[in-house]
Amino acid sequence: MDIRKELADRKSLVDSWLKDAIPNVDPYAEILGKAMEHSLMAGGKRLRPILLYETMKMLGADPEQGKNVALALEMIHTFTLIHDDLPCMDDDDFRRGVPTCHKVFGEDIAVLAGDALVFAAFSLVSQENKTIPAATTVAVIGDIAKAIGPRGVIGGQVVDILSEGKQPTEDLLSYIHNHKTADLIRVSIQCGARLANADSATMDLLEKYATHLGLAFQITDDILDVEGEEDVLGKPVGSDEASGKMTYPALLGMQAAKERAEDEIANAELELSKLVGFDVRFFAGLCDFILRRAY
Ligand code: IPE
Ligand code: IPE
Ligand code: MG
Ligand code: MG
Ligand code: MG
Repeated sequence: MDIRKELADRKSLVDSWLKDAIPNVDPYAEILGKAMEHSLMAGGKRLRPILLYETMKMLGADPEQGKNVALALEMIHTFTLIHDDLPCMDDDDFRRGVPTCHKVFGEDIAVLAGDALVFAAFSLVSQENKTIPAATTVAVIGDIAKAIGPRGVIGGQVVDILSEGKQPTEDLLSYIHNHKTADLIRVSIQCGARLANADSATMDLLEKYATHLGLAFQITDDILDVEGEEDVLGKPVGSDEASGKMTYPALLGMQAAKERAEDEIANAELELSKLVGFDVRFFAGLCDFILRRAY
């Protein structure tokens, strides 16, 4: 399987869905609509909606039925990026190859655009879908809220900020990466499995796979912040060192950080090998993509 082609095809599908789903605003608040659209449509790999889509497909469900949840995951991810880039957070000027939301629209509107994307996302998920039982929708809303909440992405972001300039430790760093990044990746797969009515053993294996994949994803993000190319990444390099971030290259050195990413991917592949009876080629290809990614 050509994973890059698969990812590109899925990305164009998600992009076309997103184009029709940009949240409406009232005329007085036109700038809010522009700010949301600016960050949402600037590009991005669309990894989280793709994970949901591919999980449903692998488990034999119709992935089109997960469209609203897929879009919601990308809106929530975009919220985390808009807020992550703010001057009071990572203070970055470029994202997805364009100036960050606050650079174009100001901090006040950027904060509100991020907020609005979260609520627009939950509103989408709560829309009626005749093929999904209401109880499943409620469970999905709960899973996502938990994954981004105080003990999820936001908790991870708090610890990331508090740890700036501190001596890195394995415990703290694994907390940060697990929550600021792996939680949203994990819940994308988990929601796909829920929508496909997966049994608990399958759900369990997929969650373990997703955790290792999510950790590898953030370790490679840390590595790319040192060795990546700004033009390819669409965001600045050297930002972590400048702000004294706790990262794997800072904790272990570059070579050992790369080995750690390889270990996480090997563990993800091990979990995947236990998932018998399903076509796991996409998820195997994804392991390879994440380890070698340049963007
Ligand atoms: C960036 O996520 C933030 C992290 C969790 C590392 P992505 O690398 O998925 O960003 P986009 O969506 O492709 O822009
Ligand atoms: C990203 O961590 C985590 C979230 C956005 C939740 P980073 O701060 O490393 O992400 P980039 O490098 O700015 O994309
Ligand atoms: Mg950050
Ligand atoms: Mg950042
Ligand atoms: Mg980073």
